[in-house]
Amino acid sequence: MPLKKTQSVLFVASECFPLIKTGGLADVVGALPIALAHAGTNVTVFLPGFPKVLAGIESARTLAKIKTSDGPPAKLISGTTASGLNIIALDAPQYFDIEGNPYLDDTGNDRPDNGAKYAYFSKVAADVALGKIGRKKYDILHAHDWQAGLCAAYVKASGTTKLRTILTIHNLAFQGRFPKFLMASLGLPTSYYSRNGLEYWDQVSFLKAGIMYSDHITTVSPTYALEIQSDDGGMGFGGLLRARSQSISGLLNGIDLDVWNPETDPEIYKSYSAENPKGKAGNKSALQKALKLRPDAKAPLFTVISRLTTQKGLDLLADMTDFIVAEGGQIALLGSGDSAIEDAFNAAAKKHPTEISVTIGYDEPLAHQLQAGADAIFIPSRFEPCGLTQLCAMRYGTVPIVGRVGGLNDTVIDASPMALANGAATGVQFAPVNAHMLYSAISRAFDLYSNPAQWNQIVTNCLNQNVGWETSAADYRDLYASL
Ligand code: ADP
Ligand code: GLC
Repeated sequence: MPLKKTQSVLFVASECFPLIKTGGLADVVGALPIALAHAGTNVTVFLPGFPKVLAGIESARTLAKIKTSDGPPAKLISGTTASGLNIIALDAPQYFDIEGNPYLDDTGNDRPDNGAKYAYFSKVAADVALGKIGRKKYDILHAHDWQAGLCAAYVKASGTTKLRTILTIHNLAFQGRFPKFLMASLGLPTSYYSRNGLEYWDQVSFLKAGIMYSDHITTVSPTYALEIQSDDGGMGFGGLLRARSQSISGLLNGIDLDVWNPETDPEIYKSYSAENPKGKAGNKSALQKALKLRPDAKAPLFTVISRLTTQKGLDLLADMTDFIVAEGGQIALLGSGDSAIEDAFNAAAKKHPTEISVTIGYDEPLAHQLQAGADAIFIPSRFEPCGLTQLCAMRYGTVPIVGRVGGLNDTVIDASPMALANGAATGVQFAPVNAHMLYSAISRAFDLYSNPAQWNQIVTNCLNQNVGWETSAADYRDLYASL
């Protein structure tokens, strides 16, 4: 039997855990290549050369120097991370020597050079995958989100038939839209500025370029793959995506089971596992102490670890805080985002200082401590391509209370009487996502919690869920081979 050829894949993404992270994209780009390596596929991750990225590359060497008329002088730095990822970073200080949020400036507005910057990033990535820069030619260029959306257009424009392109849509709401004058500096054929190309309502859309020119499109859960092909969930791209229906797959995200492991997690107060779950109670009391919440083992402690945006439905939750406290519950929130939502939770914490703790900001260790110490996590998203915090929560025996959308639909089993009787329930789902249904989901969660045997069964079911990457990594490997 002939040996199967190992595919070589270039991931192109703007974030990668543990180097640079604003959300789940980074987790996926940091974990999937390692799972793919176990499945027999070689992945190199192409990243912007942000200071934190360059600092995190071990045994760094200069792969190439780039001098072109259509971009700033730059270098490609290659090396590996401590976590075992192969990285190529685009060290272009004019674009990437920035601290803080990679996409937003200090005032919370989009950085003015986002269009030029990620066009250049995608162009260089395409040239690397094509073997025009550096010596290696890749089999697959796998682009993630709008920041890498133009890669497929550059590959198409090169005329190659060998390199295959995939776009993964992590969130259709971020479409990479820029004024049409940018087209002139992209170095693409002018014919690409059309309805069948990257023109979108008189603008250019990098995400649309990815949708139109990639050989295949994936998204991060089966339900979201259907939602984005509808007029409601398609956010303007529903028709285009329906037309590409045969080339769309929904492959569920997983999480890195080593990064998220309550048995070995160095950030949490007490280790525990499905076999020996007792330590979870110690995490709860330590967390209540650390956050200056009223120490009470019996008060259900709810957490939120999230971008504070309307996508995540947290405006709805902000209206429920009095009710939750009146029922005897506590809330520990970590996140940042829309100022109205931040203000609402800050006000709630001020009103109930011993019952509600609010940390505005980004704090990786605290995220682990919250997952370990809380009884349940709220994810009342209006839409959710996959969602990773419910997977981390289940891994830590923390029960997810979620809107029944996207990946939350695919990963949480609602505690219906039938699921409870069968020992399958892992959380509480509600639909449609509105204040009324969230209220009734919270009431249900209190009811479930008031019956310790029942609650413990749900916690055990969560701890026993398989939330790793193994299955989906094999699916990605097979998809690469099929192309
Ligand atoms: P999204 O990517 O839409 O923000 P996901 O659920 O896919 O949502 O991924 C969010 C990731 O970011 C998770 O790893 C979560 O733990 C992490 N996260 C979100 N907000 C914070 C925060 N304020 N501090 C630390 N980690 C956070
Ligand atoms: C996006 C989505 C989230 C998903 C993540 C990783 O940020 O909002 O649902 O889990 O990407 O794919």
